[in-house]
Amino acid sequence: LENGLARTPPMGWMSWERFRCNVDCQADPHNCISEQLFLEMADRLAEDGWRDLGYEYINIDDCWSAKQRDAAGQLVPDPKRFPSGIKALADYVHARGLKLGIYGDLGIFTCGGYPGTMLEHVKQDAQTFAAWGVDMLKLDGCYSSAEEQAKGYPEMARALNATGRPIVYSCSWPAYQGGLPPKVNYTLLAEICNLWRNWDDIQDSWDSVLSIVDWFFTNQDVLQPAAGPGHWNDPDMLIIGNFGLSYEQSRSQMALWTVMAAPLLMSTDLRTISPSAKEILQNRLMIQINQDPLGIQGRRIVKEKSHIEVFLRPLSQAASALVFFSRRTDMPFRYTTSLAKLHFPEDAVYEVQDVYVGKIIGALKTADNFSVVINPSGVVMWYLRPMALPVQPWHV
Ligand code: DGJ
Repeated sequence: LENGLARTPPMGWMSWERFRCNVDCQADPHNCISEQLFLEMADRLAEDGWRDLGYEYINIDDCWSAKQRDAAGQLVPDPKRFPSGIKALADYVHARGLKLGIYGDLGIFTCGGYPGTMLEHVKQDAQTFAAWGVDMLKLDGCYSSAEEQAKGYPEMARALNATGRPIVYSCSWPAYQGGLPPKVNYTLLAEICNLWRNWDDIQDSWDSVLSIVDWFFTNQDVLQPAAGPGHWNDPDMLIIGNFGLSYEQSRSQMALWTVMAAPLLMSTDLRTISPSAKEILQNRLMIQINQDPLGIQGRRIVKEKSHIEVFLRPLSQAASALVFFSRRTDMPFRYTTSLAKLHFPEDAVYEVQDVYVGKIIGALKTADNFSVVINPSGVVMWYLRPMALPVQPWHV
């Protein structure tokens, strides 16, 4: 969507995967969906280095509203859990240099059973969100028909635009159409939405991450060309920092999401996140690659019988990112290849930097063979910059 927003994939935090529809603030005051949770996460985003690295959106997901609209037909937050209202929350967030996202659902109800936005409420809800100072809207698609969605998603794009407030628009539409053409029209989506959830919800497990990776790269011929500045595929939240991923798997999710030019929306408890998870999510070079201004989504370029896969994302200034990913479950695997085999231009030389180790490894010619050692369910990730002159030969 050419509204000037999301020129690089949006980054921030979203409540759903970790905090779900926990509305029992009596039993679980610390983790329930309430203004307290968002105030605390906003503090963490602002004070613990996240905002300064680009994690600027703090996004409310489902279950924030009261069970009924008010007498004027307006959506209202649950009065017990959001006693100060969304406008006050937006003010708080803005005062800390952050942006606020909210959730709606094109349908009778949200997936969690809260009031949805049927066609007759699209304009009103867009105006409500804008009046509250909301900066991003995720519009889910539970409890609506294909016809209602075909009308409603473009209608909301127009309604948001008409408010005059810059609001990033995330559409769950394709996820409700199976994610693929002919049902999904990616040309249209790129015109009306800034990002879209293509497929299933992420859960807190490696199986879930793998199923998402499989789906997105199996369908890369369709999905890859759909992404670009202002319009992104969204393989769903980062679950790094939660319970389901090992250290290696956490590094893999981060690397693969970065190669996909995916939004980096963390869903974890920033109050208690471990130093190692934080280090993965705050890797500067990783974020720089994710946020590359060209906004080209990467592709899987190699699938070996040995269960090693290689992914490539082209970057600005003729740089690129390579991810070597192991699906093996035995031991660290030594994988040998060359840039020539990975279709890099002939007679070129690259400065190679390991994205996780941080070190510049050296200069590598296209023709040189090299090896990387990839841990089970882990990655090695490289950032390659072209060098002007051929230098010393490659040492392994
Ligand atoms: C389905 C969406 O795909 C999830 O991300 C989340 O927003 C839930 N609905 C909320 O009910």
